[in-house]
Amino acid sequence: MSSRVAVIGTGYVGTVVAGCLAHIGHQVIGVESDAAKLVPLRAGRAPFHEPGLDALLAEGIGAGTLSFTDDFAAAMDGSDVVFVCVGTPSGPDGLPDMTAMVGVARSVAANLRHHHVLVNKSTVPIGSGRWLASVIEDVARTRIEGLFSVVSNPEFLREGNAVHDYLHPDRVVLGSDDPAALDTLAELYQPILSQTLPGEAPGEQVPLVRTDLVTAEMTKYASNAFLATKISFANEIARLCEMVGADITEVTAGMGLDTRIGGRFLDAGLGWGGSCFGKDVSALISTAGDYGYRTRILEAAVEVNEDQRNLVVEALLHDLKTLRGARIALLGLAFKPGTDDLRDSPAVAVAERLVHRGCFVTAFDPVVGALPGHPDVRIAASATEAAWQADAVVLATDWQEFLGLDLKSLRAETRGDLFFDGRNIFDPGLVEAAGFRYRGIGRGVPKTVERVAKEPAEGRPAGQPSWRD
Ligand SMILES: NC(=O)c1ccc[n+]([C@@H]2O[C@H](COP(=O)([O-])OP(=O)(O)OC[C@H]3O[C@@H](n4cnc5c(N)ncnc54)[C@H](O)[C@@H]3O)[C@@H](O)[C@H]2O)c1
Repeated sequence: MSSRVAVIGTGYVGTVVAGCLAHIGHQVIGVESDAAKLVPLRAGRAPFHEPGLDALLAEGIGAGTLSFTDDFAAAMDGSDVVFVCVGTPSGPDGLPDMTAMVGVARSVAANLRHHHVLVNKSTVPIGSGRWLASVIEDVARTRIEGLFSVVSNPEFLREGNAVHDYLHPDRVVLGSDDPAALDTLAELYQPILSQTLPGEAPGEQVPLVRTDLVTAEMTKYASNAFLATKISFANEIARLCEMVGADITEVTAGMGLDTRIGGRFLDAGLGWGGSCFGKDVSALISTAGDYGYRTRILEAAVEVNEDQRNLVVEALLHDLKTLRGARIALLGLAFKPGTDDLRDSPAVAVAERLVHRGCFVTAFDPVVGALPGHPDVRIAASATEAAWQADAVVLATDWQEFLGLDLKSLRAETRGDLFFDGRNIFDPGLVEAAGFRYRGIGRGVPKTVERVAKEPAEGRPAGQPSWRD
């Protein structure tokens, strides 16, 4: 059955939610307060890079099931279910900044004229579902009694793979104190839950977790904190591998074949980044602090991650001795492949640290064409251009495209021969055959050997860009 849906905030999450819900048969209005984003959205284009999303937007707009507006009141009048997808960046106290959420709550309160199910997709501090209801009640007082229910529906999509992840999730988590609201959402998600999606062969039923608000909110935080910790664990073992002369890529391949562990999110490298992991782990640490509890494992995960970003500087210092004036070619800027998102990107953090040390950094990224706020980092149009006269090449984002680079041509451009593979994606032998000296992370004895087969990435269709973080 088709539902009338409004999606408030059409950024990286909201645009995917809007496009996918229209795709599965709902009537969707996206509400966006940033006028600059509305222009491409109305033309069926996402205002950021996300594979497969433009096609969904064009499909929905063409079919008349998807539209975008800045008119909050009209969107409320034309919908019964409202997905809230506004940003909740980290505030100074480690907890998410709820300014945008307060704005949405006030607009909802001012425009509630019939019953709505409010679905929170933004990642918010534990207890925010009830807080949202209280803010709305405060603004509208008794006029809105019984006019809304709140559901927490945390989002687990990965940028770069977002459309696939939203349509083929590992699970859907719904939390509310109102069973009728949970029924509404379960009905809305039916095509996804039953994997009967337009244009696709039927798939296996997706598990639905029905729970209360706080448990749903905690499930999101615990999932992200676990994944971040898993990567930090691999990075800690990588440090030890470096010391004892083992190769982390083979160690994690061997570990990952154990189904109790699984091979995903075990890649040693420059560590995690993006808009979610750091923010969500900080929020959990901060929440624990409110109860007088120290989350020691999470604090350690953050510390290890921070250290990984310094590894490049340490390695270059060790090798080049002085960094002032050294030219560094940086391959990759996005926080991971498949996206142009630069929020808390390890690649950008590395660039900043190298510039701070006096390096001349020239970066190339397949989709990021500018680095606002970093005038000292030059942007090249190709990897070869970035490599001109470089003393070292540093690979910081594991774009699959980089594996196709002509390394000999790259080496012909550089004046130094150091190749720092910050994501361990290259076969050291291939890099060395091109005339570079290879340096990876946790590859104590870099060698070319037949690799142990990696566990296939669960749920990843063939041809997806990457299953790394
Ligand atoms: N990005 C991810 O991969 C991801 C994954 C899971 C969960 N989340 C969570 O989802 C939320 C959104 O993340 P995002 O990356 O999409 O953020 P984003 O900053 O890309 O998008 C937020 C959008 O909301 C708009 N907005 C803010 N206030 C508004 C208002 N009052 N009315 C209409 N539009 C408004 C902004 O202009 C922006 O376009 C966050 O809480 C985040 O933690 C993000």
